[in-house]
Amino acid sequence: MPSTAEPRPRPPAGSPTHRSARGRESGGRSNRDKHLAFAVTAPGLERVTASELEALGIRGPRLGKGGVSFRASTRQLYAANLWLRSATRVVVRIERFRATSFSELESSLRAVPWSTWVPRRAPVRVRVASHGSKLYHTDAIEERVVRVLDRPLHVPARTREGTPGERSTVGTNDSSGAPNDDASDGDDDGQLILVRVNHDEVTISIDSSGAPLSRRGYRLQTAKAPLRENLAAALLLASGWDGTRPLLDPLCGSGTIAIEAALLARNIPPGQHRAFRFGEWPGFEPGTWASVGAEAEAKILDEAPVAIVGTDRDAGAIKAAQANAERADVLGDIDLHEAAISDLTAPAPGPAGDRTGWVITNPPYGARVGGPDLRDLYARFGQVLREQVPGWHLGMLVADHRLAGQTKVRLEEQLRVANGGLRVSYVTGVIPAP
Ligand SMILES: C[S@@+](CC[C@H](N)C(=O)[O-])C[C@H]1O[C@@H](n2cnc3c(N)ncnc32)[C@H](O)[C@@H]1O
Repeated sequence: MPSTAEPRPRPPAGSPTHRSARGRESGGRSNRDKHLAFAVTAPGLERVTASELEALGIRGPRLGKGGVSFRASTRQLYAANLWLRSATRVVVRIERFRATSFSELESSLRAVPWSTWVPRRAPVRVRVASHGSKLYHTDAIEERVVRVLDRPLHVPARTREGTPGERSTVGTNDSSGAPNDDASDGDDDGQLILVRVNHDEVTISIDSSGAPLSRRGYRLQTAKAPLRENLAAALLLASGWDGTRPLLDPLCGSGTIAIEAALLARNIPPGQHRAFRFGEWPGFEPGTWASVGAEAEAKILDEAPVAIVGTDRDAGAIKAAQANAERADVLGDIDLHEAAISDLTAPAPGPAGDRTGWVITNPPYGARVGGPDLRDLYARFGQVLREQVPGWHLGMLVADHRLAGQTKVRLEEQLRVANGGLRVSYVTGVIPAP
């Protein structure tokens, strides 16, 4: 059963009431049970996340830069947090108004129904962005928000250990606009509030996820250059792999792709073992959440219907992958063992009986996992693939297309995204016969 933070008593009202004061729009609540939500993604993954939202029955998701906007009932908002594999977090727009002066800002901020969203004594974090507006001083905007909110500011660990009395908000205030893909934001305590001022329109959004959704909770051990869990899932989803064909990652490192594949194949929600911020909202609906959890539980398969194999030549990486898979409850679904790529062989066929499957992997890039002989590694990899698994699909996350070309597989770019500060591409193709 999916768990969340302690269940809270049911609040007097599930959704904030609609207010129609002139010049204000009540954040996407014209349809009373609909939230206006935004799934934050790493730029480049928006289409993958939009498809996931559609699969959850959410209609008309709209692609933006670094995320996808959608309308959701409370149930769908909870389900999006539980089920989205490729997104970083889900935020809800709770208010929108125009302000060209600090007094206008403050009086509109006072009318925000904070008590529905933020517990009385909960620490908060505020992140402000301003673009093309009279109110451009982001620290001063933040100060007004904090004053009106009248909640303690969350003190991040690094500040706690630093100078006493130092400012304590987390996240940089900037002028860029959309909430950023902040999976690397190490500190996830405190309710995150996002304030965006764009051409004098102020939008207030509230984070519903808490820790980034990419942190499933299973990956405590890593090998070299691990992939984020949500990126690994995005590669699988963008491939069109549906969990009924064998899957092989012959450079599996800490096992992220294989573990995400097992979660997908068994219909296990990626958020099964974690809590979400919305569980702490005064407006939290425990009954709705319990029903979302029960529905998810009923969909989980007892075992993966297909072979999922992860190999790596590094014994430490395989140990880490096994420990991670165990924490994710999918150790029994994955064959994880030490092997060099030259030992690669085809796993057993899937239930459909046909012999083809998928190789989805994240080979060393060079910049992160170095070595002078990367060209040889890619060329050897291509040769082994052609000999052992001709006709299979190949998906690789690569930083250098020329290096990828060494495999001699005709590859098409499916995604372009940043990973560990590098621009990387996800390329796919069909492995030819030798
Ligand atoms: C970029 S890392 C993969 C990271 C992985 N996706 C994760 O999330 O942890 C590349 C991996 O390739 C492995 N590797 C490099 N050369 C290899 C070879 N010839 N045979 C097998 N594994 C190899 C390394 O040990 C390393 O774990």
